[in-house]
Amino acid sequence: MRIDKLLAASGYGSRKDVKQLLKQGAVEVNGQVLKEAKQHVDHESDLITVHGEEVFYREFIYLMMNKPPGVISATEDVRDETVVDLLEPSHAVFQPFPVGRLDKDTEGLLLLTNDGVLSHQLLSPKKHVPKTYFAVIDGEVTDEDGRIFQRGVTLDDGYVTKPADLKILKSGLRSDIELTITEGKFHQVKRMFAAVGKRVVYLQRISMGPLQLDEDLELGEYRELTEEEIDLLKGSSL
Ligand code: URA
Repeated sequence: MRIDKLLAASGYGSRKDVKQLLKQGAVEVNGQVLKEAKQHVDHESDLITVHGEEVFYREFIYLMMNKPPGVISATEDVRDETVVDLLEPSHAVFQPFPVGRLDKDTEGLLLLTNDGVLSHQLLSPKKHVPKTYFAVIDGEVTDEDGRIFQRGVTLDDGYVTKPADLKILKSGLRSDIELTITEGKFHQVKRMFAAVGKRVVYLQRISMGPLQLDEDLELGEYRELTEEEIDLLKGSSL
């Protein structure tokens, strides 16, 4: 890959900053000063240093975001702000993309990564990775709804959902619930409640596989996953 991209992705600033470093002669590859930003290097076999310090390049990045409402889970959009627009340049340079989608008005746990294999595994219908949502429902949610969701409910397009676990936290004119599903059909939670005649008025994803939404993250904030979390995630998607 190009040396300027590699250095920018390794925390040496923007491509412009990196160009400056190259111009200064601070960058060496296998002991030779390298000044051309477009020159290609191999991060596995070449020894790359900046001011004499070895550069450790990493290929993948794994982020957990507390997605705010009003933002699209995509890498680009002609009209609206996307979750990728919320990233610092030092993370954006890795070109992460959201693992699956949350609706524009849905909040909560969203993973972003540039690891296509892991993303694919987490989203594969065959893996049944559980996702838990907290929701506020307009209407009284009952144990009968729970039984229906457990059996599988028929959505507006005739699709019958896989068994889902409903936990009723508060039932009343407005109900608070948690719903765990193992698939990710378009607007699934909203459509499941629509199928039992109720409306979701607030939706937040609180977990995905082994990961819980980090409560220290304010809406719109994100952090890198720890090594342990990455291992857990990989283990859960095998
Ligand atoms: N189900 C929905 O209806 N919306 C989401 O954003 C996620 C799950």
